[in-house]
Amino acid sequence: MIVEELSLENWRNVEAARVEFDPGLTLVTGPNAQGKTNLLEAVFLLATGRSHRTSRPEELVAFERPRAYLRARVGRPSGQYQLTARIEGGRVTRQREGKLFRRGQDPLGDFAAVLFAPEDLLALKGAPADRRRLLDLDIGQASAAYRKAHVRYGQVLRQRNALLRTYERPPRELLETWDAAWAQAAVALTQERHRLVERLMPHFAARSGEISGKSPARLAYEPSLQATDSGHALTLLAARKDDELRRRTSLLGPHRDDLRAEIDGRDLRLYGSQGEQRTVLVAFKLAAVSLLGEGPGGPPVLLLDDVLSELDQDRRRNLLVAATGTQTIVTTTERELAGMQPGRTYEVRDGDYARTW
Ligand SMILES: Nc1ncnc2c1ncn2[C@@H]1O[C@H](COP(=O)(O)OP(=O)(O)OP(=O)(O)O)[C@@H](O)[C@H]1O
Ligand SMILES: [Mg+2]
Repeated sequence: MIVEELSLENWRNVEAARVEFDPGLTLVTGPNAQGKTNLLEAVFLLATGRSHRTSRPEELVAFERPRAYLRARVGRPSGQYQLTARIEGGRVTRQREGKLFRRGQDPLGDFAAVLFAPEDLLALKGAPADRRRLLDLDIGQASAAYRKAHVRYGQVLRQRNALLRTYERPPRELLETWDAAWAQAAVALTQERHRLVERLMPHFAARSGEISGKSPARLAYEPSLQATDSGHALTLLAARKDDELRRRTSLLGPHRDDLRAEIDGRDLRLYGSQGEQRTVLVAFKLAAVSLLGEGPGGPPVLLLDDVLSELDQDRRRNLLVAATGTQTIVTTTERELAGMQPGRTYEVRDGDYARTW
């Protein structure tokens, strides 16, 4: 499954543009702040309904414009279809061939994208939220059940937190209702995360071994909630209740999950060298590509935003070799990045994309 063509309207700094992508490698070059990342962000939003940079869709709309609009032609062996996204009033609505679908319940699942940006290289040593994003955004696309559980948990958590914030002593019945909803949603998402990490594991081990040539890295999911059913979850919650009422927020559950990567038993969050962190992230993204590639749409689109210049020659070559057979869109400020043979090249200036090759 590939994205053949993308039109953008009032998307960030792009007033109107049309870009055609190569089925193999497309290179997008240009100085800083011209619209390179904006283009990848658009492809990613079509695939996931979300931006990798913001959770506020209104930021995606060009200043002083009412709405943004994206239209892509998606190609697959059995034919093409049109995928559109409209961003208006702080909401994203996507349509496939004119039929609406929502995040978390999209019937689609065959248009997927993996985005790799320099910020990702910091995720391993950053906050747990950065590592959860790796799960949610990239590999979450591999499972409709995961996306559904994720959206549901987000809704329940917002409501429960609002309740805790509003009242010093929340009405008992109301709190019990939201506790029960929380327990169900929290257990469901925790289970989905277990499953997903389990499915990713073999891909990750293989990739990290290939890249480092040494002992493969291991990934482990560290759930905040160690419960297998909602009854048990409620018991664990009860033990945290006083704390929650004092701090007026939810303290237990998947919004506090973490992901651990280790090499030879060393926790890379604490002891990872720069090189090891890069290896793990490259391996993670490639693992995401192969996991998503098992899905109905075949390989996802790989979006490499300015990361190649961050990697040494070996890791760069590894990444590009592993990406063979996957549609790849690369952005860079360096005009000629050694060894790449793009099928198409665009140069971006101020939101205008000019084909140069
Ligand atoms: N909603 C918006 N409306 C108008 N312009 C915007 C909006 N959001 C972002 N921009 C502008 O879009 C420009 C290009 O952003 P983008 O992130 O694509 O740059 P880039 O080419 O990737 O640069 P870099 O090489 O620094 O990463 C920026 O100058 C930014 O201020
Ligand atoms: Mg950029």
